[in-house]
Amino acid sequence: MAYSIALVPGDGIGPDVTAWATEVLDAVGDKYGHVFNYVELEAGGKAIDSTGEPLPTETLEAAKQCDALLLGAVGGPKWDTLPGHLRPERALLGLRSGLGVYANLRPAALLPQLKAACPLKDEVLIASNSEGRPDFDLLIVRELTGGLYFGERGRSADGNSAFDTETYSKTEIERVLRVGYAAAKLRRKKLCMVDKANVLESSRLWREVAKEIAKEYPDIETSYLYVDNCAMQLIRAPGQFDVIVTSNLFGDILSDEASVLTGSIGMLASASLAGAGGLPGGEPVMGIYEPIHGSAPDIAGQDIANPLAAILSAAMLLRYSFGLEKEAAAVEKAVNVILDQGLRTKDIAGRSGTGASEKIVGTAEMGKAVLKALENI
Ligand code: IPM
Ligand code: MG
Repeated sequence: MAYSIALVPGDGIGPDVTAWATEVLDAVGDKYGHVFNYVELEAGGKAIDSTGEPLPTETLEAAKQCDALLLGAVGGPKWDTLPGHLRPERALLGLRSGLGVYANLRPAALLPQLKAACPLKDEVLIASNSEGRPDFDLLIVRELTGGLYFGERGRSADGNSAFDTETYSKTEIERVLRVGYAAAKLRRKKLCMVDKANVLESSRLWREVAKEIAKEYPDIETSYLYVDNCAMQLIRAPGQFDVIVTSNLFGDILSDEASVLTGSIGMLASASLAGAGGLPGGEPVMGIYEPIHGSAPDIAGQDIANPLAAILSAAMLLRYSFGLEKEAAAVEKAVNVILDQGLRTKDIAGRSGTGASEKIVGTAEMGKAVLKALENI
């Protein structure tokens, strides 16, 4: 079967890492009999340089015609002084709302091969892990097209005050919760809704809606936490969490916190979906797939960047937008194999904590190793 993928390599190390994600996708295509056609598009800094705007209309329109979008990273110091509405990051917000990808899945798990990268002590990890293991495996489902990011904002006429507003409708809350429940079903069947319902009216609505929806999922254990407490619990006892569902701003903050616990941001992938996607009860949907890391302009084009987050984002693309579970699992397995072999890009080197023999490799060698491992799966 043929699929079309909008490809936005973007700025900095974006092109370095998406090049390997597409190599891996092509290898998956050869192995399992699919064809992936890429439509390369400009957004972010590159688009600002060539058109003057971060998200040209043609980019959004062309992306809408594709089955999914794979993105590297956008931004860099070159564009940092531009006014807010012209910054590269605007491209991300425009793509998210333009493609309607309201549910952002950000997994954060501590990989056994990179265990020493976690800044938490073993006893802290063990205490909160139901199986007594020194690790954690959680998924943040962040609402992505509403809330403070898209609310009314402005300045007073005299310029002496400014405001941003948080507005959520029941529909927006319900649909992202349902994606959270679909994900929890496949995992450890726990869902924690995070809000600030002791202060914010919008959070009180989140909680009301969540309490109604929870009744439809009796097999999932639903809990509720205030965001400040959640920020603390993530560090105190990360193993207690399975799926966390929360608003746009809270999800932005908590997902950065969770990524630090894995100690290897160069490994973390993300999916932003317009529905439940390849999850149970979901149909394959449009999605934006991107590594969590930024554009790291200081190391761009030097064959240093870790391509694994982009490759793992491609795996999520196969799973959620194309419903190709076997293929997605094969890519994830291949990444696991090369980590077991001790291959490490600089950012994740010296983190196995076992003194096991590691080999430091560049972007291309890492990418090639994944291709090779894939052949044998
Ligand atoms: C993220 C980023 C973006 C966000 C920025 C770059 C606009 O921090 O994807 O988490 O705040 O959503
Ligand atoms: Mg962020």
